[in-house]
Amino acid sequence: MAIVRDDSTGLITISTQNTSYQMKIDSIGSLIHTHYGAPIGESDMSPQLFRMIRGFSSNPNETGFTDRAYSLDVLPQEYSCFGTGDYRITSLAVRYENGAKASRLKVQDCEILPGKYGIEGLPAVYGDDNEAQTLKVTLKDEETDLGVELFYGVFSDYDVITRSARIINNSDTTITLEKAASLNFDLPSGSWDWITFYGRHAQERCLSRASVRHGIEAIGSVRGISSHHYNPFSVLCEPTATETAGSCYGFALVYSGEHLMEVERDSIDQTRLVCGIHPDNFSWILKPGESFNTPEVIMTYSHDGLGQMSRNFHRIMRERLCRGPWKHRRRPVLINNWEATYFDFTGQKLLEIADEAESLGIELFVLDDGWFGVRNDDDKGLGDWFPNEEKLGMTMQELTRKITDKGLLFGIWFEPEAISEDSDLYRAHPDWAISIPGRKPAIDRRQLVLDYTREDVRDYIKTCLLKMLDENPISYIKWDMNRSISDKFSHGLDAKHQGEFAHRFVCGLYDVLETIYERHPEVLIEGCSGGGGRFDAGMLYYTPQIWTSDNTDAYDRLRIQYGTSFGYPLSAMGAHVSAVPNHQTGRVVPMHTRGVVAMAGTFGYELDITKLDEGDKAEIREQIKTFHRYYDLIQYGEYYRLSAPEDYCTVWEVAAIDKKEALVSAVYHGIPAYPPAVRVPVFGLDPTANYQIDILDLDEKYAKDYEKLTWQSTHIINGIVMSGAALEHGGITVPPPFFDGIAWQIFIHRLEDG
Ligand code: DGJ
Repeated sequence: MAIVRDDSTGLITISTQNTSYQMKIDSIGSLIHTHYGAPIGESDMSPQLFRMIRGFSSNPNETGFTDRAYSLDVLPQEYSCFGTGDYRITSLAVRYENGAKASRLKVQDCEILPGKYGIEGLPAVYGDDNEAQTLKVTLKDEETDLGVELFYGVFSDYDVITRSARIINNSDTTITLEKAASLNFDLPSGSWDWITFYGRHAQERCLSRASVRHGIEAIGSVRGISSHHYNPFSVLCEPTATETAGSCYGFALVYSGEHLMEVERDSIDQTRLVCGIHPDNFSWILKPGESFNTPEVIMTYSHDGLGQMSRNFHRIMRERLCRGPWKHRRRPVLINNWEATYFDFTGQKLLEIADEAESLGIELFVLDDGWFGVRNDDDKGLGDWFPNEEKLGMTMQELTRKITDKGLLFGIWFEPEAISEDSDLYRAHPDWAISIPGRKPAIDRRQLVLDYTREDVRDYIKTCLLKMLDENPISYIKWDMNRSISDKFSHGLDAKHQGEFAHRFVCGLYDVLETIYERHPEVLIEGCSGGGGRFDAGMLYYTPQIWTSDNTDAYDRLRIQYGTSFGYPLSAMGAHVSAVPNHQTGRVVPMHTRGVVAMAGTFGYELDITKLDEGDKAEIREQIKTFHRYYDLIQYGEYYRLSAPEDYCTVWEVAAIDKKEALVSAVYHGIPAYPPAVRVPVFGLDPTANYQIDILDLDEKYAKDYEKLTWQSTHIINGIVMSGAALEHGGITVPPPFFDGIAWQIFIHRLEDG
């Protein structure tokens, strides 16, 4: 049993394979958090909570005269409330009809349910009765009849616990939620580092690690989307935690909108993390009988460092968050025309690219921005989702037929939430664009955003998309969103409900995505928001892959994909080989290396392949063969970060679950002259088995240089046999760089006869 409840003590212990989570209903009905970490069996951890009388830490009224050491201000809790004596960052702030803003929750009930709970209208991890259990704890504020249901989804085999809360107004008056977080997590002792992922357009998910200091720190988004700027994912870990050792807690919010993750280290060195919807743009009215569901948080704990924590996230997101036929279907190698042509194309040009793509072994042709309305640059046309046949020089049906006749799949770009002021849609429905009456809205990429809180707007967009899907053989959609949302206001909401706008927008987006998914589950949707501006667990429920960044430079991608890998699987990361000099950085990186970097994701190309020389074309054919050969390993293998991209050689590994093979990839970038050797451990293999090492693409040309250098370095690993133990504990030395920017792929496979 993953969840055990002892009614005599009030103890509830959740066990997963390698973790325990424990809470206790104490003598006055508070739900106290007692442990999350390595397994503890069912030992009651509550006596370990240090108690003493603390000045200015209020006591609940019922203990104030009998037990002055009892204070919600210091006790670790499962869901903290504002206004009744816990002065730390809070999970729940409710404004009642009389103007007061104070709640106090006590446990009413506790149920253990088979399977994983779902959340109406919101994405969530799923699991059947055989693999998941749900703990539901019902709490109540006795004075106001406010109800809170806390949900814990337990996936023992995944070492994952999910959390969500439902706030219910059981009273006969209207209340307003001013904050309703998804999770409160208290660590009663220890020093912790907080790892977060900041960024900007074309530089997403840069890792930031710092010790949690006294006070409050926060990351979040008020941009309407989860944002390039702060990903809704973070880690609390021991200051000494590394990739392979130390306690790490990871939190991924399953939400694509405005979020807030706060951490507080209080005056007695306790650490609290609260995360959920950002309260700045949020106030939600609950009439009597109404309820509000918070988004979900996926949590995992690893005793063995950041690597294992990431692998737990990869597995649960890949297997129990992504859905539909494309979850396990081989994702096609694609060619996207964006960096090849930008807006400047004709149907004929697209067909030339498609011709070349077919001959190179590419499987999916993606037509990016510019095929609709009057859209020859980025200041008009959004919303007019009608093919521009004059520009194409043919109908969309002709184009798609010609492309699919070549044996390619066809995919197309939409930006379904966007509207240009210079569009027929805007001229017909100016009130469908988000703006505040009497105020000219801020413009971003010269565009506005459709008001997805409105059903009529969503219905219109659904009709446009479904019509395109019904009339054309479309196998793939790139779902883009190219601005932050400002001037939030809906003509469909009255003044009192404008505080609901930001969350209703996200629910509206999920509604449109769900409709498309339900009607066309066979269509692969790739999420995108100016690259990775909405790379979050919420989107993965609808779009099993997401364009990681508009930055396709291979060196920059090493860092962006490294940061992204902390929370998200390789199968989610759109990664393409693009032209050199790179359009974002001007850097020239060898074609082979661009391929190695892009293979650590959902693989594709984004350059004018009609202009390549025969050498590059041959290299592309090889890359596609390599990608197919190692597809399962890359997409489903266990991922290890072997070195960080700060240094001059970035190395990562994928190891097969059955331990039969592993692929180590290494990229040299910015080497110093005569660099020191790069020795890395190879993880995830059977220590007692023997493995052969094969360096891929060690062709004649490379072999010559390689021999010269190996002679110099007396280092030869190609073809040698090592045990799994030697590979892990001794490690392998990455072949030397005979020029900057070289990449190596090292395939390690088990010798069956030992
Ligand atoms: C932003 C995306 O990230 C790009 O890949 C491309 O699709 C452009 N939008 C098109 O406008």
